Amino acid sequence: MYMVLECSMPTRHSACRYVLYHKSLFGGDGMAIKYIPEPFRIKVVEPLKMLTFQEREKKIAEAHNNVFYLRSEDVYIDLLTDSGTNAMSQFQWAGVMQGDEAYAGASSYFKLMDAAKDVFNYDYIQPVHQGRAAEKVLLPLFLGEGKFAISNMFFDTTRAHVILAGARPIDCVVEAALDPAKRAPFKGNMDVEKLERLIKEHTPEKIGLVVMTITNNSAGGQPVSIQNIKETAAICGKYAIPFSIDAARYAENAYFIQRDEAGCQNKSIKEIVREIFSYADMFTMSAKKDAIVNMGGLLGVRDGQKYGGLIQEIKSRCIEFEGLYTYGGLAGRDLEALAIGVYEGLDNNYLRYRVGQMEYLASRLDDAGIAYQAPVGGHGVFLDARAMFPHIPYYEYPAQALCVELYKEAGIRCCDIGSFMLGNDPDTGEQLKADFEFSRLAIPRRVYTQAHLDVIADAVIEVSKRAKNIKRGYKITWEPQILRHFQAHLEPIA
Ligand code: F0G
Repeated sequence: MYMVLECSMPTRHSACRYVLYHKSLFGGDGMAIKYIPEPFRIKVVEPLKMLTFQEREKKIAEAHNNVFYLRSEDVYIDLLTDSGTNAMSQFQWAGVMQGDEAYAGASSYFKLMDAAKDVFNYDYIQPVHQGRAAEKVLLPLFLGEGKFAISNMFFDTTRAHVILAGARPIDCVVEAALDPAKRAPFKGNMDVEKLERLIKEHTPEKIGLVVMTITNNSAGGQPVSIQNIKETAAICGKYAIPFSIDAARYAENAYFIQRDEAGCQNKSIKEIVREIFSYADMFTMSAKKDAIVNMGGLLGVRDGQKYGGLIQEIKSRCIEFEGLYTYGGLAGRDLEALAIGVYEGLDNNYLRYRVGQMEYLASRLDDAGIAYQAPVGGHGVFLDARAMFPHIPYYEYPAQALCVELYKEAGIRCCDIGSFMLGNDPDTGEQLKADFEFSRLAIPRRVYTQAHLDVIADAVIEVSKRAKNIKRGYKITWEPQILRHFQAHLEPIA
């Protein structure tokens, strides 16, 4: 029904925009429209409240200038995260009614096992209540005092679990990722030469785990190519280092591979997903993203023989923290919704519309000359706050300042992916300087409409117009030791 008009092959390195030709609506030669329409209609609505600018100013001050303290009812468009904020389909809700709530061996568990083994093709799959639970179960089995874990980029909870296990995390993303203005494909990739250098420098025995995060959330939802996953796996194999995938956004990553990687255009998303996972030894997954559920996670082991008693240890640790291994901290109804969601996330029409939302937002920002991590990634637009507030240093948290302004401007809640989130050096206690200062507009799946996207773009443009009048950033008046951004209190610097 829809044809891509401009962009013979829609590469992300060319203009970040699709122009579609809607034949059936306009007939004849048709009319150009600049977005991909929603491939669903709405059956249940959730009313939203709109506060005034003055009310929002008061709310954010009461929230210690930390968006995590805002009540969701005081938010108009909630872009805090794309995690667990997805709208489930009618099929998933129907599945919820079939949840088998038995403590052990529920039919819903076996349904999930069939689906997950079919999609990922792994010997062992362990459900857990969310991604960080998988990290808590798995990471200490490979990491400890004196060890290192290397990733293209760790997300905050994964980084925290590496540190909690006694080890130290090292990021190893390609150089291109560090320049938000540089449009290059697969900016989420591992720098494989640097990886090998790091392994030799620290010695292979000290590298407990290599983790590939797909898509690379902290670098802007940037995808990783199959080629890069293969090369990383080869290096891990050469030095006998276990290789794990942090797989929260596996389907979006596969979509970018299908769209942009040479030789992948004729492969299905499922084929690409299976190929990606075939190169790793194990994976941890927050299912709250691409498996389109509100709660859930998975842990997988590809070859049950390769690491002796690994599966048994996973089961035992799961029982300690999550509950029996046949429910892993989830209700039977959650297992059902997840068994359906792992397939829905692979749908090409849905993925094209989803990434199209990001591309539309990005194209509006391009028109206004506003910088973001370009080309746009899979689950959100990562605004470059350093470019918008060049006069605010990293230790005054420019990205946090932009988040506060967007809330005041239009009731939009987004979050800092920058020095505020990165926190302090675990050894010296000094504020670390992040590679980026991003304000992340994470887009929940199947939740917001085209009109909402325009409200978001208009708000960013309005804030950018008054950015030079916002002279200073924020200081932290209280913070907890680990994952401080969720709870810290901030004050504007006078
Ligand atoms: N790994 C990645 C790449 C993630 O993005 C997340 C969560 C996790 C692991 C942890 O999963 O939340 O289910 O425990 N990211 C969310 C976000 C919270 O907003 O990006 P979880």
